[in-house]
Amino acid sequence: MFTTIHKSKKINESGHAIYLFSSLKSINTKLFSKDELEYIKTQVEKNEQKTILINRLKQQVFVLLIDEKKEKHATVETVRAKGATILASIKSQKIAEINIQNHSSEKLYSLALAEGLALANYQFLKYKTTKAKSATSLKKVNILDADVSETQVAELQHVIDATLFSRDLVNEPVSFLSAPQLSKEIEKLGKQSGFKVEVLSKAKIEALKMGGLLAVNKGSVQPPTFTILEWKPKNASNKKPVVLVGKGVVYDTGGYNIKVGTGMETMKCDMAGAAAVAGTLYAVAKNKLNVHVIGLIPATDNRIDSKAYVAGDVITMHSGKTVEVLNTDAEGRLILGDALSYAKKYNPELVIDLATLTGAAMAAIGKYGIVAMGNADEKIKNKLKESGNVVYERLAEFPFWEEYGDLIKSDIAEIKNLGGPYGGAITAGKFLEHFVDYPWMHFDIAGPAFLEANDAYRTKGGTGTGVRLLYHFLKNNSK
Ligand code: BES
Ligand code: ZN
Ligand code: ZN
Repeated sequence: MFTTIHKSKKINESGHAIYLFSSLKSINTKLFSKDELEYIKTQVEKNEQKTILINRLKQQVFVLLIDEKKEKHATVETVRAKGATILASIKSQKIAEINIQNHSSEKLYSLALAEGLALANYQFLKYKTTKAKSATSLKKVNILDADVSETQVAELQHVIDATLFSRDLVNEPVSFLSAPQLSKEIEKLGKQSGFKVEVLSKAKIEALKMGGLLAVNKGSVQPPTFTILEWKPKNASNKKPVVLVGKGVVYDTGGYNIKVGTGMETMKCDMAGAAAVAGTLYAVAKNKLNVHVIGLIPATDNRIDSKAYVAGDVITMHSGKTVEVLNTDAEGRLILGDALSYAKKYNPELVIDLATLTGAAMAAIGKYGIVAMGNADEKIKNKLKESGNVVYERLAEFPFWEEYGDLIKSDIAEIKNLGGPYGGAITAGKFLEHFVDYPWMHFDIAGPAFLEANDAYRTKGGTGTGVRLLYHFLKNNSK
């Protein structure tokens, strides 16, 4: 079970609490004894502490002063991150329930704090056979804030759950999460939240001539799947759907261009794009957004076998375009190319694909943002960037000049799946561009999708990157 968040209507005098204040000056002195106030003052003034723990033995009170940054978004992010810091202390004291009391002027802060606590409190214990020592104590977060509505709390809960379901999917190893199993998990999420799911079998994928997905799947024992998710409310504000495409490589060995050293260890994360799309549909459906959204998830593993595809092969994609495969490890663009051309049949308003596509994207900006590119107009790009800033899954737009397209021209087919030694994230994007004829954005999430260590409320392993971003964008779009 994930952490649950509730709105409380009256003060719980004796429960463990976090008090939020805008500054030292604005502290409500009635809440503390003289000694406690003195203690808070010295901690803030002498030690520059922004989080102070008052230990009342039976009651722990965390005093949190907002650390104002120049940008409002950055301030909100420090509050989320404080949730992770306070959680460490909550866990060490085996606290099960905590009450947030907002004494600052901003309702955003109590929601952000609850969000940080709940996201940081995530753990993946499915494969632990003994009761994990580190298992978290925190079960429940109550928000006391007159400006926060029940609806807002429920909405936050759904988006958090969606993010954590997405983390679960990414953290599942391929020994469980094959392509068919990924489709089954998505069907479960659909049932729980109300979005429709259709799973195309290998026979159907063959009939559709999805040559990219089939080529990557050739080395696999398990069949590929192509999962179609749909949320179509009666009152949808958009006539043409928004289509989200997620890379679902459930494991990437690299194929015959095998990954060496430690390069393969984390490659169960190569379906993080798919997990983000599934999580987003869950959040959208649970919150009943009045926007028509479709998700497309091509899925397979990428493995070695005597039947596997090899460098030098030429394949024909779903669109009819021919591709010279020059590296079997550049498999993501092959399965995405098929999904992107399939998306044309929906006559979409906008298509966004999410993929752990290139090491080059990770090398360029690391874990702090999403590499973005595409042909959508500036208005849409700006809206996406704004959502990225609000949820702090920030977008770094890369150049997308025509010249990069020259780097993937093939001698014997129309294009090749390998660019030159530089600009690898962009040449991958240019490859995808061959399969779109609608407003489109490509998000390369290779950097932030999977972390080696905790980063505040983004826990080690799968992060669920993309869910909060897309939910926010779709909600803004549906108004
Ligand atoms: N799944 C990888 C990209 C990746 C790398 C994701 C690190 C997450 C972390 C992708 O399929 C891949 O192997 N890309 C190659 C492309 C190259 C062969 C053109 C890469 O980035 O090295
Ligand atoms: Zn690869
Ligand atoms: Zn891959």
